[in-house]
Amino acid sequence: MSVTTLTPTHPDELNELFGQTGFIRFEEGPGGLPVACLKNGHAETMVSIYGGHVLSYLPDGEEPVLWVSEKAQYETGKAIRGGIPIIWPWFGASKRYPKNPSHGFARKLTWDVHSARLIDNTVPQLHLDLQDNDITHSLWPHSFRLELVITLSDKLDIELRAINLCKNPFDYTAALHSYFNVSDIKHVSVLGLERRSYLDQLDNMERKIQEGPITFTSETDNIFYDTRDTCRLIDTGFGREIVIEKHGSTSTVVWNPWIDKSKRMSDFGDEEYHNMVCIETANAGPDVITLNPGGHYELCTSISTKPL
Ligand code: BG6
Repeated sequence: MSVTTLTPTHPDELNELFGQTGFIRFEEGPGGLPVACLKNGHAETMVSIYGGHVLSYLPDGEEPVLWVSEKAQYETGKAIRGGIPIIWPWFGASKRYPKNPSHGFARKLTWDVHSARLIDNTVPQLHLDLQDNDITHSLWPHSFRLELVITLSDKLDIELRAINLCKNPFDYTAALHSYFNVSDIKHVSVLGLERRSYLDQLDNMERKIQEGPITFTSETDNIFYDTRDTCRLIDTGFGREIVIEKHGSTSTVVWNPWIDKSKRMSDFGDEEYHNMVCIETANAGPDVITLNPGGHYELCTSISTKPL
């Protein structure tokens, strides 16, 4: 089954249609996949049109904010390990369609470029769309449009809007599955989830309470629920904090695969777990979104950094 996109995917054609000199250009990225490069006076970000996937966020003079595996595979049909995969319309295993691949299909399809523009002459903004098609219908029987808007100001803002184009309501779960680059997992802590409840995915979804700041000493895979709070990833090795604000989300997933799981993943280096942690702005676990016909819902995150 193949799907053609509504807009071109060749960088030259995309530059002709949407390029904004100095601020937004399209290029051939890793694996030959087309990418959009957004740049302003503060930072650069690279977005793969395949997957609607943010691959990098580089504030000037800083270590990369996002982590991507050296073993990441840049091939259509495969998920890219790192950056910010778009998880939609199910987080983890699909409850209704258990044979479907985990984390939905949005990260494994090529999106359409809807627009690329400048706001206030300095803030580049990229808007991608994904519409239901033969592949999505073979996995999930609903009509929808996803709109992904990525804005680079002194922060990186990502908004994922889901629109129900069916005659019936549908349910979905989702995540902006952000992989952050850290100096060493042993030198980081996560603030913002103290005294919050979570489902421990490594302990049969047992409900537990996070007492203090999160630190990492073993595999961690927790879905925090009933939380709208900003998370702060404190990295004493890099001397910075990454601030992860969110809207439209009452769940946050915190994941590090540690040693054994890293070894089991073919697109993840055995030792790479030292330098990453996922803090995912999500609609996951009990945070299921029901969209009525014609309805829409936005899941948003703003990522910024501060020196410690
Ligand atoms: C996290 C899940 O969001 O994603 C983990 O909580 C999962 O359970 C991880 O292992 C990676 O998933 P995938 O499908 O990209 O290998």
